[in-house]
Amino acid sequence: MINVLLIGGRGIIGSGLRYYLPRLDSNYGIVTVDLPGAVDLAGKQEVESEFVDLDINTDHEAFNGLVVGKDMVIYLARKNPLEEMNAMTDLVFDTVRRQSHPPLIVAASSVHAVDEAYNFVDGPLSILADRKFHEIDEMPDPISATIPACPNNDYGQEKAYVEEWAQQMALNGFGAISARWGGINERNKMTDERGYFTLWCHQEDAARFVHACYTSYVKGTLRNGAYYFVISNNTYNIFDIETPKREIGYEPVHNAEVFYKGD
Ligand SMILES: NC(=O)c1ccc[n+]([C@@H]2O[C@H](COP(=O)([O-])OP(=O)(O)OC[C@H]3O[C@@H](n4cnc5c(N)ncnc54)[C@H](O)[C@@H]3O)[C@@H](O)[C@H]2O)c1
Repeated sequence: MINVLLIGGRGIIGSGLRYYLPRLDSNYGIVTVDLPGAVDLAGKQEVESEFVDLDINTDHEAFNGLVVGKDMVIYLARKNPLEEMNAMTDLVFDTVRRQSHPPLIVAASSVHAVDEAYNFVDGPLSILADRKFHEIDEMPDPISATIPACPNNDYGQEKAYVEEWAQQMALNGFGAISARWGGINERNKMTDERGYFTLWCHQEDAARFVHACYTSYVKGTLRNGAYYFVISNNTYNIFDIETPKREIGYEPVHNAEVFYKGD
């Protein structure tokens, strides 16, 4: 059994992981901790999990009890404002590193950790966001997976803080990865958000990423402390996913262009 704790697992990404992880490997056994009363975004889909209703910030002992014995912790919960979010991040990483057998932690970052590196307002990315592909002479190079966090707002700052923690954990010999999720929604559809098709990620690909992390962790080949963009295999991706494909064997199977057939 691969014992997994999903923190904030009733939400968008967690509900997809609960559905797809056990379909990638039936050995995944998932415990989901989420706020009492939090809506389960898995809807009526058949998902496997044991549920614990708990605000992890209010009972550290109970939270620690959930981390004990886990092989992997996936940190998805978030809250506002920035100081409280960072305090929750401290709690999660600190609890993981205090375990006698610390689990791998896969922590939520975001493409917004690197907001300073791109925009859809002007230049080729603006033309791309308008889907005027014939007006682009040459597709811009994807934003490298190795680019350090360069946030330009509080949301990006909270993700940069998560990434710092993951890097510190790695320096101290722990297993830790930051997932720079792209745009994920519970229906796996396109949205009106500008440029969404360039960074869309299907929930199944999110699970395939986590599975690739865990598999390479067990093999001893995971580059602990790394941050990776987690995006589907979209034709017009603006972020580099070749690096996670090469380094951890990430194999996304979806492409946002299925929504634009007949364009
Ligand atoms: N969905 C996306 O497109 C996307 C993209 C990039 C990054 N992210 C990041 O990934 C993470 C997960 O995203 P999501 O879309 O699944 O979010 P979500 O809001 O759908 O789910 C988060 C869950 O965390 C729970 N939670 C909040 N505080 C908690 C606490 N104190 N104790 C226990 N549970 C708590 C919430 O009830 C919720 O169910 C977030 O950090 C988010 O910023 C999401």
